[in-house]
Amino acid sequence: MEFSEVVKNRYSCKKYSDKKVEKEKLEAILEAGRLAPTAKNLQEQKIYVLETPEMLEKIDDVTPCRYGAPTCLVVAFDKDNVYTYPESDRTSGIEDATIVATHMILAAANEGVDSCWVNFFNPEKLEKELNLPQNEEILMIMDLGYAAEGTKPLPNHDSRKDINETVKYL
Ligand SMILES: Cc1cc2nc3c(=O)[nH]c(=O)nc-3n(C[C@H](O)[C@H](O)[C@H](O)COP(=O)(O)O)c2cc1C
Repeated sequence: MEFSEVVKNRYSCKKYSDKKVEKEKLEAILEAGRLAPTAKNLQEQKIYVLETPEMLEKIDDVTPCRYGAPTCLVVAFDKDNVYTYPESDRTSGIEDATIVATHMILAAANEGVDSCWVNFFNPEKLEKELNLPQNEEILMIMDLGYAAEGTKPLPNHDSRKDINETVKYL
């Protein structure tokens, strides 16, 4: 798909059918995450694929926002392997995990797979539920699947600020 079409077509899907995400499509999505850039090429992302009823229940335990998606990715990062900004405490974990997640959410749109970025959950609770190692922090959950019949983007999807409100040429 044309990149501009991918960007336009992506929307947050809030109702999924039972149709599973095909293995090849899921692999293409994960590969797009693998190819994402990270600070100093540290590649500290950790991606967990959750598809069994037992694992999806763990998502439902922390958020109402799975919306019936048959696949969820949990995007985390290794806090012990991050870049630290000069003269600052800020580290790259969140931003590296974010660009990985962004690559994957756009790759999903390119594959015709619907998605939703979810942050309405307590990350520490999910880290415990999934038994993640102490050094890993969860950024987000990505719902993946196919929209249930009749599901459309919410009105928010067409509501964006004018470019002049967010961009300034200095
Ligand atoms: C960082 C981030 C967190 C979000 N968290 C949630 C969430 O927890 N639950 C949800 O239903 N949608 C969530 N969304 C989806 C947004 O509400 C949605 O992207 C926004 O309203 C624009 O709509 P669109 O994605 O259809 O264009 C999130 C989106 C982003 C980028």
